[in-house]
Amino acid sequence: MDSQRTITGFSKLSKRGKIKWIVQNFFKDPEVVTKELTSYWLKNEEQQKIIDGFSENTISNFYLPYGVAPNFLINGKTYAIPMVTEESSVVAAVSKAAKFWMSRGGFKAEVLGTKKVGQLHFSWRGKKENLFQVFSELKSELKNNARTITANMEKRGGGIREIELLDFTEKEPFYYQLRVNFETCDSMGANFINSCLESFGLTLTHFLKSHPTIEERSVTIIMAILSNYTPECTVRASVECPINTLGYFGEIEADLFAYKFYKAIRIAEIDPYRATTNNKGIFNGVDAVVLATGNDFRAIEAGGHAYASRNGQYSSLSHCRIDEDKFRFWMDIPLALGTVGGLTSLHPVAKRSLELLGNPGAEELMKIIAVTGLAQNFAAVRSLVTTGIQKGHMKMHLINILNQLEASEKEVKEAVVFFKDKVVSFAAVREFINLFRQNSDSNQLLID
Ligand code: MEV
Repeated sequence: MDSQRTITGFSKLSKRGKIKWIVQNFFKDPEVVTKELTSYWLKNEEQQKIIDGFSENTISNFYLPYGVAPNFLINGKTYAIPMVTEESSVVAAVSKAAKFWMSRGGFKAEVLGTKKVGQLHFSWRGKKENLFQVFSELKSELKNNARTITANMEKRGGGIREIELLDFTEKEPFYYQLRVNFETCDSMGANFINSCLESFGLTLTHFLKSHPTIEERSVTIIMAILSNYTPECTVRASVECPINTLGYFGEIEADLFAYKFYKAIRIAEIDPYRATTNNKGIFNGVDAVVLATGNDFRAIEAGGHAYASRNGQYSSLSHCRIDEDKFRFWMDIPLALGTVGGLTSLHPVAKRSLELLGNPGAEELMKIIAVTGLAQNFAAVRSLVTTGIQKGHMKMHLINILNQLEASEKEVKEAVVFFKDKVVSFAAVREFINLFRQNSDSNQLLID
């Protein structure tokens, strides 16, 4: 073990102290790295403090682009949607799709359910019939004892909805579960749900210890935690139009486009390899808005992919049908989101994102985010079945490479023209820039 690279008490060092230790032990040029890391600190100390407070051992900020996709018409209302993503062409593609559908009636979205789920997992060696006999009594005690936690949520129209006792003892000895449904209104509800479940753990322990008809008094609470699988907290986003109003796609006419698009989505429905990439495209849009609004993108991803596997095989979240002469494209997706509490009310830019969206409630945000995912999927599949994906990607890729090579404005212009009909790679762009610079130098010599 390299003792220089381990430390006790790192978290107790000041921010500068942490940087000092890191740069001295892990970098070749400590001074340059210190300067760089501190250059990303916010000038406004109050704002920096807020950001630092979100995590631990923070030494700098990691920037990602914050973009906006305008012209979204959703259920007759227009939105400009904030997106945080590092992937070039995601915002451009989504914006293009938004504009396309704006002139065809826009997107429709409807919330199908808002039930969140939590689980208390426990081991108990008693007679299962006994447990089920006293379950309704236990249920009211669980609810009563959690009243201090649920009171506020109940005032807002939420709270605990259903509590089920599930017997898993055939799969795992002595293992039972309380599966609980919650309504958490405009909050994502993780803290609320986990607090309720932990209180359930205490109540269950006490209940079994003291109930007159229960013989086995000892229970082991394994854990209490929400589930990120929320198949009943879902939203449907859709678009439709007559095929003959789809327009032209370069050399491809509307009929052929609709056919190829339909097939592309069918392939994602039947083949997990394609489904994964199709859904990744959906999450390109979804995650970007989830991040911009201060929501938990890992939770959303986990829930989305579990939902995509709900029938036993991983499949497409989106679907396309051609009925008579109508093109229909839609998606159901679970989105357990919040617009109050957590980072949504703490992160200064997340708050601005919500303001930009008109301060929506959780249900409205579900609709906006599902639509962004569908728009991204439409844009990606549209490119795939027409021009191919690389055309759009490569332009943005080219700009990124040129930035890395610190190309001047003139060099960028020339490179964009040069690579219009050529394959972009880092090596090819570097060669172009080197040649361009050599030529400029020799031209300069001639002038001198
Ligand atoms: C790239 O980030 C996303 C796509 O691969 C999605 C898709 O293939 O549908 C273009």
